[in-house]
Amino acid sequence: MAPLAGSAYVQYQYGYPHKTAYRAFAPPRSLTEAWSQEDKSSLSLYLHVPFCEMRCGFCNLFTVAGPLEAVMERFLFALEREARVVKGELGPASFSRVTIGGGTPSLLPAPLLTRLLDVAEETMGARLQEVPFCCEVSPETSTPERIALLVDRGVDRISIGVQSFLDEETKALARPQKRALVNAALDLLRSRGVETLNIDLIYGIEGQTSATLLESIEEALRWKPEELYLYPLYVRPKTFLGKGQRAWDDFRLELYRVGRDALLAQGYRQVSMRCFRGPHAPAPFGPAYRCQDDGMVGLGVGARSYTTALHYSSEWAVSPTAVRGIIDAYTAREDSAFASAHHGIELDGEEQRRRHLILSLLADGLDEADFRAKFPGREAARDFPELEALVSQALVRRTARGWELTALGVERSDAVGPFLQSAPVTARMREYAVR
Ligand SMILES: C[S@@+](CC[C@H](N)C(=O)[O-])C[C@H]1O[C@@H](n2cnc3c(N)ncnc32)[C@H](O)[C@@H]1O
Ligand code: SF4
Repeated sequence: MAPLAGSAYVQYQYGYPHKTAYRAFAPPRSLTEAWSQEDKSSLSLYLHVPFCEMRCGFCNLFTVAGPLEAVMERFLFALEREARVVKGELGPASFSRVTIGGGTPSLLPAPLLTRLLDVAEETMGARLQEVPFCCEVSPETSTPERIALLVDRGVDRISIGVQSFLDEETKALARPQKRALVNAALDLLRSRGVETLNIDLIYGIEGQTSATLLESIEEALRWKPEELYLYPLYVRPKTFLGKGQRAWDDFRLELYRVGRDALLAQGYRQVSMRCFRGPHAPAPFGPAYRCQDDGMVGLGVGARSYTTALHYSSEWAVSPTAVRGIIDAYTAREDSAFASAHHGIELDGEEQRRRHLILSLLADGLDEADFRAKFPGREAARDFPELEALVSQALVRRTARGWELTALGVERSDAVGPFLQSAPVTARMREYAVR
């Protein structure tokens, strides 16, 4: 459906293709082969920790709540084995970015967190003190011991999920959260000198209004975060069940505009639909890395990896039983099973160009010269008539170097992304049964 005709909130397109387009590979693909022709001089390393202290009502990330320490131990042991095997398959590789995400990585007790960091640094050879290194945390688990550990090991960006500073709103999100702990965590992150603090907030919560969203933003700004993410809620609150999709969309769109304008007025720059960077945010550092062009090695069950032509991960699920089953299967794997990709999707030339188009357009725009250099003999406008369709709807505009989203296009990013997906990927996603 054309992006202006339907909902503005179809799907968060943070990558392409979406994991629901992945399928089991038969037979599994060898990692040595998958990586043999790749440029491994600037890769991203992602470690996924699939555990949280609680399961928030809105979240569909790959994670389970309240794991026993023995389960986390078993996970770490499997991760260490996986990393050794994957490093052997990759051969010489250099990492320009390291991210530890989840779930909630800071749920790991300090000795396990130390082992996780050792996997990145010692087994994989990532230079944590020298390259951009980010970790996701939650307020409850941001203890002085764990934050000190992360900072000492070189973390320079910490992203904390706050969602809302109002108790009624976190309650409505089914995310029990104590305000005093949120404040303490933010104080701690600032006093420990974390260079880039990112705060996640959500809009579209039951009972939220423009005024309460602004209250949360003002609160967040007291800690002068270098970055702020505004996430639209993707689980419809009860009040909107009876009122229909349109009312629910209008509510989120109104809050989005209020939030965006407040941040722009404070000098924040909008980087994408969700991401805002403060005027005091440090300049990007470290080796050049672009997710459109460079590969990613994901470790830990639930992590995604990609080469130019192969995207893979473990299976994905949301229900606690299914997630637990996938984690158990991961920890029970023989070492040899880590040498192959078992589940994913292959990208032919057209899908590779489409991925470049989508990721560029939803970030800082599509550069024509860049596209031609990367795909010789190809023209973006000829390959993708969808671009003209988006221009005609005022969602995209031509620039001197190519195409970029208009303000209308930015606020409709979650409709523009799905609109640009290929028909085969859309069909695979539709067929996917979420467990
Ligand atoms: C990995 S979590 C952040 C760290 C930590 N787990 C926490 O929640 O504090 C990633 C972020 O995704 C956002 N998110 C996840 N599911 C969402 C949904 N259904 N709708 C809107 N935002 C969502 C939340 O803002 C959350 O902070
Ligand atoms: S929002 Fe964060 S803490 Fe809540 S379930 Fe999702 S990953 Fe876990």
